Amino acid sequence: MEKLEGWASPQPATELEPALFRRKLMSWYRSHARALPWRGTSDPYRIWVSEVMLQQTRVAAVIEHYEGFLRRFPTILALALAGEHDVLAAWSGLGYYRRARLLHKAAQFIVKERRGVLPRTAAELRTLPGIGEYTCAAIASIAFGESVAVVDGNVERVLLRLTGRAASGTAASRSFLQQQAGALVPRRRLDGRGNAAGDHNQAMMELGATICLPRAPLCLHCPVFAMCRTRGEHIATPRTVQRSRPAAYLLSLRKRGTVTEVLLEKRAEDLSLMPGMYELPPLSQDAVESREPILRLRHAITNTNYYVQIYAPRGPRDRALRRAVPAAREDLRWVRTGRLSSLPLTGLARKVLRRLDVMDVSPVRMPEPEEIE
Ligand code: ADE
Repeated sequence: MEKLEGWASPQPATELEPALFRRKLMSWYRSHARALPWRGTSDPYRIWVSEVMLQQTRVAAVIEHYEGFLRRFPTILALALAGEHDVLAAWSGLGYYRRARLLHKAAQFIVKERRGVLPRTAAELRTLPGIGEYTCAAIASIAFGESVAVVDGNVERVLLRLTGRAASGTAASRSFLQQQAGALVPRRRLDGRGNAAGDHNQAMMELGATICLPRAPLCLHCPVFAMCRTRGEHIATPRTVQRSRPAAYLLSLRKRGTVTEVLLEKRAEDLSLMPGMYELPPLSQDAVESREPILRLRHAITNTNYYVQIYAPRGPRDRALRRAVPAAREDLRWVRTGRLSSLPLTGLARKVLRRLDVMDVSPVRMPEPEEIE
């Protein structure tokens, strides 16, 4: 991170006036909060799912998956009883699949050890798989009204700018931010007037997500501009260097009567990235030289831009591409296109299969009634 110069204050940051800050923030939040699907619920399970999905993931992507996931697994019990395969299928496209596995494990633990009841405090929630420092505070405050501060990346940025403190990423800096955030969060518990701590935390995150933006903050719209030490002289976080990589995949379809099948590869179980998930069979760049792809798209994952090209055989007799697939035969399988939405596909495979109309666009197959007990 860049060092703050000139305006950065060497002395401790001025005290924010918590009561005034909270009033300004909440009045803004009441009129500007986005109507996100998880904001209208008090069901702790639904709040938990939303917070896990929101870890490292854009709100728009979460919106696309949230309702479908909850239709498929409407309760902790339904999630605990599901197979991991089905949980991954419903998560397909959200990325960071470890989150789905841990969410599933945590649901099983809660059903087995806690009679299906989610813990109510941040300290207890923190002991569950997949629930870290900020997620436990988010769930405890939003679902149960506990007065604990959430400090995620957005909130960190808001606090650094408000106080004029240089970002450093050290333990001292983290503890400073935690203390600042703690001083601002309302002490009031859940009561007839609503959930003060939960709403405050969501408002802080909302301010970071919609106004106090990383590169070009919208200070003129900021409800706490008057209390801000930096007012737009923002800490420019250097853009992480984006790598570019080409990637080629095979799209091979076959007809069996009225049924269409697509050839997929199952990723090895011992891979650290997306183990056991299904994708289109990768091809080497050599194998596709002098061929024209049927689809090109860019697929961005963290700091890599994949320039993806999809190749299909030119006709039934063109077997060269199929032979060029390096995967072992036992890792390849023909899958009916009607079954694709119940398969744990990688996000990229799902995107390609939808783009090419091989797979329909409903994100999750609706369960048959007898599938959920
Ligand atoms: N990021 C993570 N949780 C959030 C929430 N509840 N509201 C807004 N942004 C978030």
